[in-house]
Amino acid sequence: MMAKILDSSLAKQGRLKIELAQASMPVLMKLREIHSKARTLDGMRIAGCLHVTKETAVLVETLKAAGATVSWSGCNPLSTQDDIAAALADEGIDIYAWRGLSSEDYYWCIEQTLKMKPQLTLDDGADLIFTVHTKHREYLEGLQGGTEETTTGVHRIRAMANDGKLMYPIIAVNDAATKSSFDNVYGTGQSALDGIIRATNVLLSGKNVVVGGYGHCGSGIASRSKGMGANVIVTEVDPIKALQARMDGYSVMSMAEAAKLGDVFITATGCKNVITKEHMRLMKNGAILSNAGHFNVEVSVEDLESLAKSRKEVRPNNMEYIMADGRRLYLLGEGRLVNLAAAEGHPSEVMDMSFANQFMSIVRLAKESKGMKPGVYEISKEQDQEVASLKLESMGISIDSLTEEQKKYLTGWEEGT
Ligand code: ADE
Repeated sequence: MMAKILDSSLAKQGRLKIELAQASMPVLMKLREIHSKARTLDGMRIAGCLHVTKETAVLVETLKAAGATVSWSGCNPLSTQDDIAAALADEGIDIYAWRGLSSEDYYWCIEQTLKMKPQLTLDDGADLIFTVHTKHREYLEGLQGGTEETTTGVHRIRAMANDGKLMYPIIAVNDAATKSSFDNVYGTGQSALDGIIRATNVLLSGKNVVVGGYGHCGSGIASRSKGMGANVIVTEVDPIKALQARMDGYSVMSMAEAAKLGDVFITATGCKNVITKEHMRLMKNGAILSNAGHFNVEVSVEDLESLAKSRKEVRPNNMEYIMADGRRLYLLGEGRLVNLAAAEGHPSEVMDMSFANQFMSIVRLAKESKGMKPGVYEISKEQDQEVASLKLESMGISIDSLTEEQKKYLTGWEEGT
């Protein structure tokens, strides 16, 4: 076993957290029970690049229980939870991850996970897929398939496929309804605010919260902020989403207008330079800047650094920048995803569905990928519905089913007025 982590003495603490997560991830644990008996992934080598959290640990250990050999790295320099990394290393997982690593170390960790010559990859943000398609093409030959967890990563692999550059099949886990309509909405909605509150202890009630982007993540953040008593302002570039935000009851305006009003800014666009110098110059004294998108490109940290005459860390994950005119702006988690940099990421209950989809996609690839051409694949409606049904069952909820008469009605066209 090979590993590079921060501190192996944290393993016991990490293990306790993993056990708690297991208790809140009944769907994934049910899959573990079934596939550990069947040893569905016997002989498979899987490299993963995904935030090292207690929920991820439950996924990794489920892959292992089903027979796979797994190697792992984190997918963001500030998201690794060192106690979880220690617990996974203690279980014999090849893991290369610690919080606060440099960009160079980040890619070094990914490279170490490739040494086992994986047949499958599991990504969140597509940095592992990117690495094997650029610097380490020698591993492409052995690769049968992969999965991608997040919106930004799916954009990246679709762009690769459109350019004719994607060399093996990837399942877009993000696009399953039981992933993006839950994890992105309720997960990001809660965990982004959790990160902001842990880093500042700000009272959201009565504040102007500016949400950049009204996709799944932005709509979740807006809804939770409103629930906490904030006045929510949404900025968008898509006229349909902007209209939706307005009709959901939020103010909608340009970032240049919102910049003057905002107390707390949260970007979730998946795009770069959403908050730049031109906006920072207009902001109120005390404004808090944060990002919930995958990469640290949404708030221009470079611009903030260039405008500031000094900076100091005022509490963990909270950097105070003093502008030339004396205004203070606060940047959380270095502009990296605030829910993981300053909190623990999404709660286990919602990751349960995301990672059930990950696991089922890996099983599908292990069985079928040899017949799949390079490209981006969707999760089937059947898988989505199975995950939702298992989740409902675990929550003790039963729902109606269609009668034969109703099925006939829904598939027919003869009955009208
Ligand atoms: N992405 C967001 N929250 C997460 C979590 N708790 N674990 C892994 N990936 C995540």
